Amino acid sequence: MNAKKLAGEKAIEYVKDGMHLGLGTGSTVYWSLVKLGELIRKGLDIKGVPTSKNTEKLSMELGIPLVSLSSINELDLTIDGADEASTNFELIKGGGGALLREKMVASISKRFIIVIDETKYVTSLGQFPLPVEIVQFGWEVTCNQISKLGCKPKLRMENNAPFITDNKNYIVDCYFEKIQDTKEVNNTLNMIPGVVENGLFVKMADVIVIGGSNGNVNTLL
Ligand code: A5P
Repeated sequence: MNAKKLAGEKAIEYVKDGMHLGLGTGSTVYWSLVKLGELIRKGLDIKGVPTSKNTEKLSMELGIPLVSLSSINELDLTIDGADEASTNFELIKGGGGALLREKMVASISKRFIIVIDETKYVTSLGQFPLPVEIVQFGWEVTCNQISKLGCKPKLRMENNAPFITDNKNYIVDCYFEKIQDTKEVNNTLNMIPGVVENGLFVKMADVIVIGGSNGNVNTLL
């Protein structure tokens, strides 16, 4: 059973005609987008705001009508994946590097639905390294400041060069032993000059849809 597909498709049950949707990024929400494309071909009328260039491209291929974030004050619903989701609905996101746009889009959504497979549902966050988007200028200094939070930051690489986000920034993946106080870490990180945004999503998720390898789907509200 494809657990990601099960979760991704299930979340589409929340989509209603006329909605403005935030369209997440990654291999789980991929299945939501494919399903959305099918429904649009059958007459569903929605508009989407993509959270990455990859999602923008995929949505266009699937025939999903898009609008820019700049033209929207509020979204009805956003569906997105996560790298970890905890029992108290906190998230680590940004494994695909799209965390900044994802957080911006989620922050103006009336409802934020997370789609994951069961391996990502955890009691406390921190096994997955926390992605932090930083500006390129003086990135080593920013890394040094980040490490004072008690983690080991590692510059993300791709093809022997630093990974560059859609916003032309770098990502550092921060290895914590455990993230004790998510709110504190979120706020402290974002206060460091050079940090653009971090992948902790605290008090943002409303629904978590979990796909299981046994074919079951669990929806947590
Ligand atoms: C993108 O930057 C991420 O936040 C993704 O939403 C997250 O990494 C989940 O991706 P997958 O669904 O591909 O595991």
